[in-house]
Amino acid sequence: MTNKYMYFIANWKMFGSLNSLKSLDKFIKFFKNFKKNTYSKIIYCPPTTLINPMTKKFKKTQIQIGAQNCHENQNYGAFTGSINAKMLKSVGATYVIIGHSENRKEGETDKLINNKIKSALKSGLKVIFCIGETLKEKKTKKTKKLLSKQITLGLNKIKNNKNIIIAYEPIWSIGSGLIPKKKELFETINFIKKKAKNYKVLYGGSVNPKNINLLNLINNIDGYMIGGASQDPKKFIDIIKKTYN
Ligand code: 13P
Repeated sequence: MTNKYMYFIANWKMFGSLNSLKSLDKFIKFFKNFKKNTYSKIIYCPPTTLINPMTKKFKKTQIQIGAQNCHENQNYGAFTGSINAKMLKSVGATYVIIGHSENRKEGETDKLINNKIKSALKSGLKVIFCIGETLKEKKTKKTKKLLSKQITLGLNKIKNNKNIIIAYEPIWSIGSGLIPKKKELFETINFIKKKAKNYKVLYGGSVNPKNINLLNLINNIDGYMIGGASQDPKKFIDIIKKTYN
């Protein structure tokens, strides 16, 4: 239970069609009547195809929209299949996720991520910057070294930290049903906050209605980034309610 200002980010990944937007009615209704809605920031990050229709759906609400990635180039260019931050902003996004492990896995380097963050900020988007270690790195006690590197390189020459939120998402926890131990997660979030001073730090990885009470005991977490459970409005609502009740 908390009275803290918390972020709840729904990362829909490559799921959802125009039909899925109907499921948002339930969420909109809940959030309009939710007493703690001034304490919480809701950001839906749908696939690019749904950014604009979702913006329309959320028009009369405080709910914000984020994209899931962007190209590093700030201007238009010959980059087949790519979309830059300016284009995302023009269809209604106010945030963009950058450096998600599912994109790092496809070859995104820290340098590229740094360029994308700079480009997004210049285009007027806020950034959800993802970091996190693999199971192997965790087992060989390399987590801190890795996070340190991701933060240093990812945020290189960036001063504007009020427009960036960090999401700590251990790769081994994403989609696995596993979450870090309480003490371990508290210490890692603390470590990130010491390294990246004055940043909000969220946790992501298998957050669901069953483990949210446990996660809420960790008082240095500023919110959650939710994959699977965010596609089910009932589960997403449950997570938010349990955080405040
Ligand atoms: P899950 O909640 O499905 O584990 O996904 C976490 C995630 O990757 C959010 O960005």
